[in-house]
Amino acid sequence: MIRMNSHYKKLKASYLFSDIAKRVSTFQENNPDTPIIRLGIGDVTHGLPEACIKALHNAVDEMAEDKSFKGYGPEQGYAFLREAIAENDFKSRGCAIEADEIFVSDGAKCDTGNFQELFATDIRVAIPDPVYPVYLDTNIMAGRTGEFLDGRYQGLVYLDSTAENGFVPPVPEQAVDLIYLCYPNNPTGATASRAQLQEWVDYARKNKALILFDAAYEAFITDPEIPHSIYEIPGAREVAVEFRSFSKTAGFTGTRCAFTVVPKDCMIYDEKGEAHALHALWNRRHCTKFNGVAYPIQKAAAAVYSPEGQAQVKALITGYLENATIIRSAMKELGFDCVGGDNSPYIWINGKSDSWEFFDRLLKAGVVCTPGAGFGRCGEGFIRISAFNSKVNVVEAMERIRKTLA
Ligand code: MLT
Repeated sequence: MIRMNSHYKKLKASYLFSDIAKRVSTFQENNPDTPIIRLGIGDVTHGLPEACIKALHNAVDEMAEDKSFKGYGPEQGYAFLREAIAENDFKSRGCAIEADEIFVSDGAKCDTGNFQELFATDIRVAIPDPVYPVYLDTNIMAGRTGEFLDGRYQGLVYLDSTAENGFVPPVPEQAVDLIYLCYPNNPTGATASRAQLQEWVDYARKNKALILFDAAYEAFITDPEIPHSIYEIPGAREVAVEFRSFSKTAGFTGTRCAFTVVPKDCMIYDEKGEAHALHALWNRRHCTKFNGVAYPIQKAAAAVYSPEGQAQVKALITGYLENATIIRSAMKELGFDCVGGDNSPYIWINGKSDSWEFFDRLLKAGVVCTPGAGFGRCGEGFIRISAFNSKVNVVEAMERIRKTLA
């Protein structure tokens, strides 16, 4: 008899965004005349930058000829892309990250979800609340939690992100081994200062812990004081892995390209307390389970770093940030407290009522948001609105929200 991994039984019935998609499609079936504006899942809506499209076309043509055709590439990514990333995303900001510490992949969702495979089942894990559900669900699947009681999984250390702490939790009093951080944050849109990140890095060094730092929304930072990378913080090379993505930066949600940085200074310990290089372990896992991102896609990603690519990406991001400003102002005018939207595409709104009820009210007006409770207990009472859509749709959505809530 084939037996299941019983930890799956502890999971909520479906993944948050699948759940929302189902509710939206039921609403649409019952209300075919209400056009829906989607400001729920953070999925980009604008076409790829021209520089990426050109690179993609050229690479596809190369694949047509025997002399330029590419079969399997290096699992970790082609040197042209890893070098461009190291130079532009890290060295230019004073971060000592080398090209061979970068692992190109097909998504930060997969990487943040898969990375926990390297760790023992009985490590102590700290997870923010609210949180991007992938970090939590993959640890549940791996058996690192107990049952779900009172809105929380037993055995985890929850890091409450609340209005009181500016949605940046302080380091816990107890020692933990693995810490998930995401800044600019999904879902709250809050950012962490240099001093706050330094506290986390110092804590991790003191406890021989590891930080998994999700920087997928880094490109939306406009405030020059806010760090873009954890490696801008002294000591981070020894205790932090960073996840980045081209999805939100350059519109690659359907194109798929991301990367993970595993510095060679990061160590992981066996049962005897002997240190092993995390880089070697991740490399072993990556080569075993992954055959690399398609050559044309890597070429398109590398084009992001060309001067035209940089200008086009900046224009995309500026457009989404303008939408974020429209959403923030509209919600503030309606009397709601908001965070995010200035250095992030997400606006986290205190709806002062049950999250799912608020979601349903907006859905009746044909606007999809994400109920905060779906991200954890601390998200109850909040909703998240995403700025990823056209300006016309965002303006129309705010108009509908005004009418519905008036
Ligand atoms: C979100 O809406 O939180 C994200 O789009 C989900 C993701 O990037 O996987």
